[in-house]
Amino acid sequence: MRDYPAPHAQRLVGHLGRWGTDPLGLIEEGSRLGSVFSLRLWRSAVVGYSPDWNRLILGDLSTFRSRGSMSGLSPYLAGGLVRTEAPEHRRRRQVLNPSFHRTALADLEPRIRAITRDRLPRGDFDATAWSSALVRDVLSALFFDDTIPAALLQRFLAPLDRALPAPFLRRPWLFRRMNRALGHALAHAGPTTLAGAFSALPGGIEEARVALAAAYDTTAHTLAWLLWHLAEHPSFATPDRVPLLVEETLRLYPAGWMGTRITATPVTFDDVVIPSGTLVMYSPYLTHRDPTLWTDPTVFRPDRFSDPVPAWGFIPFAAGERTCLGAQLARLMLRTVAAEFADLSLTRTGPHPGLRAGITLTAAGPLALRCDGNPLATKGLLNSRAHGPIGFPASS
Ligand code: HEM
Repeated sequence: MRDYPAPHAQRLVGHLGRWGTDPLGLIEEGSRLGSVFSLRLWRSAVVGYSPDWNRLILGDLSTFRSRGSMSGLSPYLAGGLVRTEAPEHRRRRQVLNPSFHRTALADLEPRIRAITRDRLPRGDFDATAWSSALVRDVLSALFFDDTIPAALLQRFLAPLDRALPAPFLRRPWLFRRMNRALGHALAHAGPTTLAGAFSALPGGIEEARVALAAAYDTTAHTLAWLLWHLAEHPSFATPDRVPLLVEETLRLYPAGWMGTRITATPVTFDDVVIPSGTLVMYSPYLTHRDPTLWTDPTVFRPDRFSDPVPAWGFIPFAAGERTCLGAQLARLMLRTVAAEFADLSLTRTGPHPGLRAGITLTAAGPLALRCDGNPLATKGLLNSRAHGPIGFPASS
């Protein structure tokens, strides 16, 4: 038996200091030591990123438990499905999954399109700020038919956009107000809203609150990166090519850059025994940038998604039974919004701001863009809207 390698650690605090200041640098250093490496955080942790590791961690809900993992440290995610273990987890997913299936969501596209058209940017704008406001409005409409007061929704979600520790602070008064508003929204949920899915469940208010939080900054930050790259790849705004753009954005900027579990029993992987109670992590960020899985992994190249993706090597929404409940909703929002830019021209007006890994992966500074009318469109050379709805290819 052997141990997993570990990046250089400080004597007393181990890797905790660097985890707080430069988590991406720390895991990148670890990844150069091996496809599984260990960290000394507030408890012993093991990080892996190979397809075999992802299959192990994500394929067995009984051994790799969610409760006690990092998600539970944030009040925004400590509840609902995220805190539910097997076998109850499967029962709740069976109730919710049908409402979040791509066929059930298809009817929502015109509404997303209408909201986006109303709010298209003009002139200079920061893609993160614009995307956050748009995604909030879209979620408000799709989930609740706008029955939650806009100011309350904004206040509830705002900490998720801020740097750590904001998303981890408790806000009991705000959460109580949000729960009351959600209770009302769920009790009066119209048949065409997603809230209807949660009202059928015991603990539906908490479930809807967690889903809303899980939906918001993940989708908003992904959309912001997508627009940043759309500026350099305008030909991908057409309905047939926009899915490639979305998948490549999810690959290079996986909002859920790190997922965590706690081992319920000892596990052996690669000849090393991982004791029960260890914090184990999978990392879409490292998997998606692994040069053994992806050619030129740091280059943004949407066309690579014309080919099949490596099994367990593309996991922006995790995988297995705990795969993201909103994966198809997120894809629908991203594709629909991106396609609305087909007749517009985006230009970068600032440098790439670098990455910040907080509760999600976001831009470390403004994603400065300018949006103008597109000269091609006025000459009638581009007309994406003539193509009708975007839909989903069978593989997504
Ligand atoms: C681009 C956008 C999104 C990304 C990248 C993303 C990513 C993820 C990931 C990686 C997980 C697994 C976390 C883990 O267990 O380790 C997850 C879970 C989850 N996501 Fe998303 N998500 C996105 C959008 C959404 C949306 C729109 C919803 C709305 C319903 C949503 C709701 C959830 C829920 C409820 C879970 C917990 C599932 C469970 O434990 O069974 N997410 N998401």
